[in-house]
Amino acid sequence: MSHTTAPARPRWTVATDTTRRQWLSALAGTTTAGLSRAEPSVLLRFSHVVAEETPKGLAAKRFKALVEQRTGGRIAVQVYPNGQLYGDADEMQALQLGAVDLVAPSLSKFGRIGRPEFELFDLPFLFDDLTAVRRVTQGALGQRLLQGLARHGLVGLGYFDNGFKQMSANRPLRQPADFAGLRMRVQASGVIAAQMRTLGAHPVTLPFSETRRALQTGLVDGTENPISNFWTQRMDQVQTDLSLTDHGYLGYAVVSNQRFWLHLSATDRQLINQALQEVLGFANQIADTQNEQALAALRKAGTTRIHVVSAAERGQLRRAVLPVQQQLAQRIGVEWITQMQHALSEHRSAARVAAPQGNP
Ligand code: LMR
Repeated sequence: MSHTTAPARPRWTVATDTTRRQWLSALAGTTTAGLSRAEPSVLLRFSHVVAEETPKGLAAKRFKALVEQRTGGRIAVQVYPNGQLYGDADEMQALQLGAVDLVAPSLSKFGRIGRPEFELFDLPFLFDDLTAVRRVTQGALGQRLLQGLARHGLVGLGYFDNGFKQMSANRPLRQPADFAGLRMRVQASGVIAAQMRTLGAHPVTLPFSETRRALQTGLVDGTENPISNFWTQRMDQVQTDLSLTDHGYLGYAVVSNQRFWLHLSATDRQLINQALQEVLGFANQIADTQNEQALAALRKAGTTRIHVVSAAERGQLRRAVLPVQQQLAQRIGVEWITQMQHALSEHRSAARVAAPQGNP
């Protein structure tokens, strides 16, 4: 059910050596400005679905600059933002087919390739803050999740944040009753769909690129996203109310195609991975700022009413969606949930120990 008039996309231009050589010769001389330009010998195509002025968009640009700088342009990175090349519906398949070399989908979108355990991260009100998220993503659980991608011909390279999600609609969403009967756009995640149903809303799964238009046409009434996505998609122009619920986390995993990755020389793999790990750190640093700047821009624009949801109201919302974890335990896998709970309670005890004396 498509409402956009997106230009026809090239279907599955799988990179044979010939096509890659054609791209590389076309690229010769076009890598990052000011470089003593080596003839690019490796092309890395990085596709993503969001705008450039977002944590992911800025991370992709930084990655391109670092890799091209460090290789003097020998490795060329082609970034395709805004779903230009592939979108939610086909970016993973394109990666598996080798039609693209790197993607960074939201952790909510791995269920569709058969890894619903990634929806752990979608459980509402699970993380107290981003340090808790990183405890998981940078710990054994996070690594195990990435390793599971090998079975799908993919290589999981790391994680980074966007941040906490807020709710938007054409009315304030401060209490469970406010959600009654609303059609809410969601990512392709069983956990998020259950969260909306448990709140009394109707989840509608749509690609990110179709969200703004679906809100504008009334196909859906509302949605959830971190503010950087809400602002850069100008959803404020089609939603009268943004409620600051911080009810769930949105983050990404960077994934490559196993054949492409193993085809690289060991030196290039190390160089690319080194640059990527630095960029993941950079992205986590700017994620909060990007969301704060977007909130400031929204306040300045005055286009949408911003509701600060109180701790008591958040408590009500949290209690209302508590059953989701139990409901989705089979889908995610009880063993994964147990591991997550274990990692988070370790984090909380470590935080308690680290807290200055007298602070709970
Ligand atoms: C969404 O579909 O809402 C987000 O996952 C988009 C993104 O990649 O941040």
